[in-house]
Amino acid sequence: MQANITGEGTVSSRIDPALIPQRTLYTGARMPAIGLGTFGSDHVTADQIAEAVKAAARFGYRHFDCASVYGNEAEIGGALSEVIASGVKREELWVTSKVWNDKHAFEDVTASCEKSLADLRLSYLNLYLVHWPFPNFHPPGCDVTARGKDSKPYIHADYMKTWAAMEELVKRGLVRHIGTSNMTIPKLKLVLEDAKIRPAVNEMELHPHFQQPELFAFVRANGMEPVGYSPLGSPHRPERDHTPEDTSPTEDPVILRIAERHGIHPAVVCIKWAVQRGQTPIPFSANPRNIFSNLLGVTGDPLTDKEMREIGALDRNCRLIKGQVFLWKEGQEWEDLWDLNGEITPA
Ligand SMILES: NC(=O)c1ccc[n+]([C@@H]2O[C@H](COP(=O)([O-])OP(=O)(O)OC[C@H]3O[C@@H](n4cnc5c(N)ncnc54)[C@H](OP(=O)(O)O)[C@@H]3O)[C@@H](O)[C@H]2O)c1
Repeated sequence: MQANITGEGTVSSRIDPALIPQRTLYTGARMPAIGLGTFGSDHVTADQIAEAVKAAARFGYRHFDCASVYGNEAEIGGALSEVIASGVKREELWVTSKVWNDKHAFEDVTASCEKSLADLRLSYLNLYLVHWPFPNFHPPGCDVTARGKDSKPYIHADYMKTWAAMEELVKRGLVRHIGTSNMTIPKLKLVLEDAKIRPAVNEMELHPHFQQPELFAFVRANGMEPVGYSPLGSPHRPERDHTPEDTSPTEDPVILRIAERHGIHPAVVCIKWAVQRGQTPIPFSANPRNIFSNLLGVTGDPLTDKEMREIGALDRNCRLIKGQVFLWKEGQEWEDLWDLNGEITPA
């Protein structure tokens, strides 16, 4: 590993990708245990994110978490083709994309995946996720009170039709693995019963203030890898995704104290904790210095067992990405999306 950070914004550093911890999926495939998120939270442009992808690849990142709804796959595709032209082999990269909620019909899943592949300029994806289990459309950037007129709850038979389209993509060789996102234990139990090709990953919100211990354990016990989104507590998420109850893991006094002890940013403490706990964080950043620090954080100088226990005790069950726009009828609360009493919320 070489690291040479000089002057404001100038970063000249590289970490050997072989030093980055890997997760082994049930197929035997290996996925880097940290990826770069690519959702610009409505304020970072597609071109800036493409630059972030190129910088990340130079630093040693090999895992990129994309989605059609982020509206930047064409620009990221340009970046990835430059990365590959620079000598990084396609086999070394782990690229995820996701089908958006208004594309759950069989033929729409297929077309959406083909479009993501064309935009990303790839012949296959390593992982393709069903972004949310609700097939509900809402316009990008809309207020959390917006409801689609055709909104539906989770209907398992419909989800399995979407899943059959996902399985077909594996059979056609367009995607190597398929997975779920924003799921709950009761929904996953049904999917695991009925899937012909099991989900390899569940992508879920995970940070020190929202550790989801039961779902985390369930995912791992059932042969899936937990990929953790918003691992820093999404400090720059859109204003519409803030509520007065929200807390910030990177401002937690315990995290601040551990950061000071190690001489690192509190964000990097969150990343170290995530990787050591066994999830795969996908922090977003458009700042080369932060992109590099996050990767450096997962190599060497681990948190102590005591520090891991201290962070484990910080869970506040504080979900930041609540998903209000997916509610399907009047009078509901966002908690209804998350099956809190262990059963799928009735229609
Ligand atoms: N499956 C889903 O439904 C879902 C939902 C949400 C997110 N995601 C995925 O998860 C990714 C990450 O989540 P997120 O973007 O919500 O939040 P996040 O990764 O928790 O936070 C990102 C923010 O943290 C800042 N940051 C990053 N590294 C830092 C560092 N070392 N020091 C200080 N600040 C730092 C970044 O600002 P700078 O740019 O200034 O560094 C950025 O604005 C997304 O980009 C997306 O790929 C998936």
